[in-house]
Amino acid sequence: MKQFDIASIPGDGIGIEVVPQAERVLRAVADVHGGLAFQFQSFPWSCQYYIEHGVMMPDNGLEQLKPFDAIFLGAVGDPNLVPDHISLWGLLIQIRREFEQVINMRPAKRLDGIQSPLQNPKDFDLVVIRENSEGEYSTVGGRIHSKEDEVAIQNAVFTRKGTERVMRYAFEVAAKRKRFVTSATKSNGIVHSMPFWDQVFKEVSADYPAIRTESQHIDALAAFFVTRPADFDVIVASNLFGDILTDIGAAIMGSIGIAPAANINVNGNYPSMFEPVHGSAPDIVGKGLANPIGQIWTAKMMLDHFGEEELGTFLLDAIERVTRKGTITKDLGGIHSTEEVTDAIISELHTARSV
Ligand code: NAD
Ligand code: IPM
Ligand code: MN
Repeated sequence: MKQFDIASIPGDGIGIEVVPQAERVLRAVADVHGGLAFQFQSFPWSCQYYIEHGVMMPDNGLEQLKPFDAIFLGAVGDPNLVPDHISLWGLLIQIRREFEQVINMRPAKRLDGIQSPLQNPKDFDLVVIRENSEGEYSTVGGRIHSKEDEVAIQNAVFTRKGTERVMRYAFEVAAKRKRFVTSATKSNGIVHSMPFWDQVFKEVSADYPAIRTESQHIDALAAFFVTRPADFDVIVASNLFGDILTDIGAAIMGSIGIAPAANINVNGNYPSMFEPVHGSAPDIVGKGLANPIGQIWTAKMMLDHFGEEELGTFLLDAIERVTRKGTITKDLGGIHSTEEVTDAIISELHTARSV
């Protein structure tokens, strides 16, 4: 019996609602498979934990997480309790950085039965490879407090190592897909980083002659995600550009509640972390309205990461059969609760086994 040990961090808001549902789904996947098991250990680290302990996680939090095969996170952030810059840097961003999860992989594709806000979405199927450790999210900068002229400075940091790494990763992903990489740039402006980004893109692309490439300015690309998403395959983007693009990717899928993501440690020296694109959604908490599909699709990405791609596809197929039948939550125009959608997915998994 193969066993995967998973550290669950439900976090805040609807994270606490959707993580246990996705765990139920994974248990059902294991049950159907028969030859593997998932062992979950839950960690209460969250804004509530901060109120009680003055920290988002204990000093040895990272040490506690290190032995696990993966981290399964819901969402972090409860701005009414703790300012976001404290809660996110104290938990989510710290794990991404300390565990060298330098790639954030975020697919967006049309699912049957889900209405896209686009009039003609066609069958788009793209994946954004977002740089996850540097760029615009650097720690370099600061605030100069003064009565008359207050200044906030943020330096974007693009290292050759980090830039090349994310681009190579994107090309490797594209090699297994439609072999087309779009680089999100902004080299027409006065930022220093983007001509450098373009140069590295050109150099790396020379190593992949079989892969078609293009560069698009981020502002135009954001618009193209809306007007012609089916034209893209793999998009490589800096940290902030990728963050914004993937919310658009989620929106054109029909809801941010279904978008999955994986924070990948490429060296295998620390666990990777799986968390959906959405946040803690304080506006719908406690109402049974949270769409569990983002978290469950994220579980599918974790299965892929474990090398269980067949099971991953099996799970995504079950999700799509459920959306096709219209068992969907309110954000997608449906009437079903978080738990009902999860039950329907689990029931599809069992049905698929018996046929
Ligand atoms: P959000 O993603 O939490 O919510 C945006 C909108 O989408 C809200 O209207 C919400 O109700 C809706 N929504 C989100 N997920 C949904 C789901 N599963 N089902 C149905 N509707 C859903 O973004 P926000 O409001 O900007 O942020 C809220 C908090 O979450 C903030 O503290 C923010 O910093 C944090 N956040 C955390 C993460 C993360 O942990 N990965 C990501 C984004 C935001
Ligand atoms: C995401 C989120 C985070 C990010 C925030 C909450 C720090 O928006 O995972 O997309 O910007 O990376
Ligand atoms: Mn985001």
